[in-house]
Amino acid sequence: MAKAKEAKSKKSTKKSTKTYYNYIGGEWVKSSSGEWFNNINPADTSDIVGRFPLSNAEDVTNAVAAAKAAATRWRRTPAPKRAEILFTLGEILRKNKDQFSRDMTREMGKVLKESGGDVQEAIDCTYYTAGEGRRLHGYTTPAEMPNKAAMCVRQPVGICGLITPFNFPMAIPSWKLIPALVCGNTVVIKSGEDVPLSTINLVKSCEEAGVPKGVVNLINGHGEDVGPTLVDHPDVRLISFTGSTNTGRIIAESCARNNKIVSLEMGGKNAIIVMDDADVDNAVEGSLWGAFGTSGQRCTASSRLVVHKKIYKKFAEKLVEKVKKLRVGNGLDPKTEVGPVINQDAMNKILGYIEIGQKEDKATLACGGKRLTKGDYSKGYFIEPTVFTNVKPNMRIAQEEIFGPVTCVIPFSTLDEAIDIVNDVPYGLSSAIYTQDVNQAFYAMQELYTGICYVNSATIGAEVHLPFGGTKGTGNGHREAGTQVLDIFTEWKSLYVDYSGKLQKAQIDEVEV
Ligand code: UN1
Repeated sequence: MAKAKEAKSKKSTKKSTKTYYNYIGGEWVKSSSGEWFNNINPADTSDIVGRFPLSNAEDVTNAVAAAKAAATRWRRTPAPKRAEILFTLGEILRKNKDQFSRDMTREMGKVLKESGGDVQEAIDCTYYTAGEGRRLHGYTTPAEMPNKAAMCVRQPVGICGLITPFNFPMAIPSWKLIPALVCGNTVVIKSGEDVPLSTINLVKSCEEAGVPKGVVNLINGHGEDVGPTLVDHPDVRLISFTGSTNTGRIIAESCARNNKIVSLEMGGKNAIIVMDDADVDNAVEGSLWGAFGTSGQRCTASSRLVVHKKIYKKFAEKLVEKVKKLRVGNGLDPKTEVGPVINQDAMNKILGYIEIGQKEDKATLACGGKRLTKGDYSKGYFIEPTVFTNVKPNMRIAQEEIFGPVTCVIPFSTLDEAIDIVNDVPYGLSSAIYTQDVNQAFYAMQELYTGICYVNSATIGAEVHLPFGGTKGTGNGHREAGTQVLDIFTEWKSLYVDYSGKLQKAQIDEVEV
């Protein structure tokens, strides 16, 4: 998990700085410690977006108690009624899209059009998932005995803890919140500490839409201060987490001890295969977008470009030429193509990997590689879009998640070799292949061991009505989005009704019809 952009502060640095609160039991409240942290604009660190409550274990306990108090009434609210409130939420998000997008760019840095896409993803998720209020299908099936009915239905799991990252400040909280609510659960959300305003915008919209008090609760602060209490709380039945593989593993271990349901979406080291028959210009455009969109801070980012030897030189030259022209800057400037990275720790980690690429891996730094510091750049966390060429599949920069504007170009000779390269990393979120050959495309779709696979498109841009998630170190088998997310936020209940009027014994070898 990313560390907050600034250490805690008893008081805000400027009197005019806006103050935001936690949301517990339908009230906007400060943290029980009375401490705050500042939310800083990563494109201009002199711009303080606001001060937010620095929460602790007591705040989590209060939020869980509020979620518990609201649980029975919400569970008993018919799902179509729950969904009606969520459709209203969708309208409110739509109405406020421009403001929410600007807030997002200011606190997170991604370019305004991408922030619009992020809010839109939350809107799409809300409308799509709210539709489940009139479905939430179970099924009926014949029973083994006469005059007996058998069916199964979905029931809510109870109180859900939702822990969200910085890179999709409204989309990812919505992927968790909306299905949790339509299924009849109550929630405690821990916002990403670098992007608390976007979660507050989402939760305020829930309040405005008429979500009853206590159904949605929000805690702001540092993961290490509040995460363990939320994860270990005996009343919390489920944790849904998106973030780093290391943190996810720790959460999963705690959940295992307490027998909790846990859904994890973690790292990626996604690759695009470019075959020798590919439309090279299209593949270059896709690679640019996949590698440098959101400054490479997507778990779906195209951080490896696996390119056929026959076109490697041409592809690399075209790519590097385009990467050098990418306009880095403040995401609020419409001309900007690549924004800053989220905070100083992230910047240092990315620069550290660029150094590893050169010194330890001894790959060729084809372009970029430095922090930008001149003029307005000095105010933020800007890194030149960076391409490494002549990368070998086992190098650290080709194996470890960098989560920044860095990609590596790896040569290969045969499709099977390329597939092995793509699969031979600890993650399995997304993959892609550029080819004009339908046989190669289908073979790759079959053999790439990832949760998502694209043909003739980059590794990013998953849509909300399809399942999202990955294999190996990326996840623990669950899928968010689509209808598959309902399997996270509900548990099955099998119902048997014997209307024979007599004892009929099951699992006895003497059934009479
Ligand atoms: C993430 O980076 O955690 O598929 C999510 C995509 C986006 C979601 C990314 N729809 O790139």
